[in-house]
Amino acid sequence: MQVLVTGGAGYIGSHTVLSLLENNVDVIVYDNLVNSSIESIDRVEKLTGKKVEFVEGDICDKEKLSRVFKQFSIDAVIHFAALKAVGESAEIPLSYYQNNVHGTVCLLEVMQQHKVHNFIFSSSATVYGEENNVPYVETMKLGTPSSPYGASKVMVERILADLALSDSKFRAVSLRYFNPIGAHESGAIGEDPKGIPNNLLPYVAQVAVGKRDKLRIFGDDYPTKDGSCERDYLHVMDLAQGHVAALDWLNRHPDFSGVEAFNLGTGNGVSVFAIVKAFEQAINKKIPFEVSPRRVGDLPAFWANASKANKELNWQANRSLEQMMTDTWRWQSKNPNGFLI
Ligand code: NAD
Ligand code: UD1
Repeated sequence: MQVLVTGGAGYIGSHTVLSLLENNVDVIVYDNLVNSSIESIDRVEKLTGKKVEFVEGDICDKEKLSRVFKQFSIDAVIHFAALKAVGESAEIPLSYYQNNVHGTVCLLEVMQQHKVHNFIFSSSATVYGEENNVPYVETMKLGTPSSPYGASKVMVERILADLALSDSKFRAVSLRYFNPIGAHESGAIGEDPKGIPNNLLPYVAQVAVGKRDKLRIFGDDYPTKDGSCERDYLHVMDLAQGHVAALDWLNRHPDFSGVEAFNLGTGNGVSVFAIVKAFEQAINKKIPFEVSPRRVGDLPAFWANASKANKELNWQANRSLEQMMTDTWRWQSKNPNGFLI
């Protein structure tokens, strides 16, 4: 089986490519490296002892994409390629819609031309918006996310639904990720944000390694147990295996057509203070922090109802919070400058 992985050099993509190779799936990565380094792919090849075909290209470049579909016999596409910084998406919304929405339409058009019907999409818990109560379950209506980034994910989910109505051969799985953290247990690949990290764990890890002075905790006056926000953090290797499970689900359901959404999370909410404590315990060192005002757009608490993925995908997020912290630290301490070598 051959799978095209767009955005496969990125954080979740590189871990998923590793899991796919370990499951004997051949992988072609298509990435423009706007937010990643080819070094991640080299390391995946070293870790697995297997070859990855790599094509540097933009998903908006339909001619280049088409050449890839001609060159390889592609059975399915896993589509990670997107811009993902929530704050930035409010500053340059057109770039986000161009890249995330138009780019996905280009990819779907080329797939259709080449009669490739199997599609796995990187969606997000953000599609539940502010309207839905926790825990989020797939039967809820799509919400209204507060950022253009979130809106781009809702738009793509709508596009997939419309495409499925028009094309009875189209088979899509939308994986709604909660908060992936951690790194491969080797410490050879991990999350390598450019500039100041937006997300919690990369920031905490950079404080721990001495690259940043202290963490700012955005709000301690939320209606939660300790006043800080709660999220559903899952290990990136569990998330990677969720993609292998989704591919397997498509293979096990040859008569399926349409779009099926699955939440990928642990089902537990963990607070920012609890994350800091868990990280301190894992590295046996204090993380300096201060409490700052709330961040615009943050919801107090959300986590997944992951029963559907547990049951239908035979998938579960098994790795513990402790392992998420230890693996983050192994990656960060072995690679203080990320993939810059
Ligand atoms: P990432 O930035 O590490 O990976 C995205 C990859 O896509 C990068 O390698 C980047 O170079 C590539 N890319 C971006 N635009 C492209 C384009 N036009 N053409 C080709 N390649 C392009 O991000 P990630 O954290 O690995 O996220 C992967 C996917 O999962 C994204 O779609 C993201 O929105 C989604 N997601 C991420 C999270 C999270 O917490 N990390 C949560 C929910 C959903
Ligand atoms: C954010 C995005 C979400 C996106 C996800 C992955 C928002 C509102 N949501 O999720 O759409 O899918 O990233 O890219 O931005 N925190 C701090 N200090 C920090 C950083 C974070 O206290 O320096 C807190 C935040 O307030 C939040 C928690 O840590 O409560 C997790 O934050 P983050 O890692 O950015 O994830 P989300 O906000 O859940």
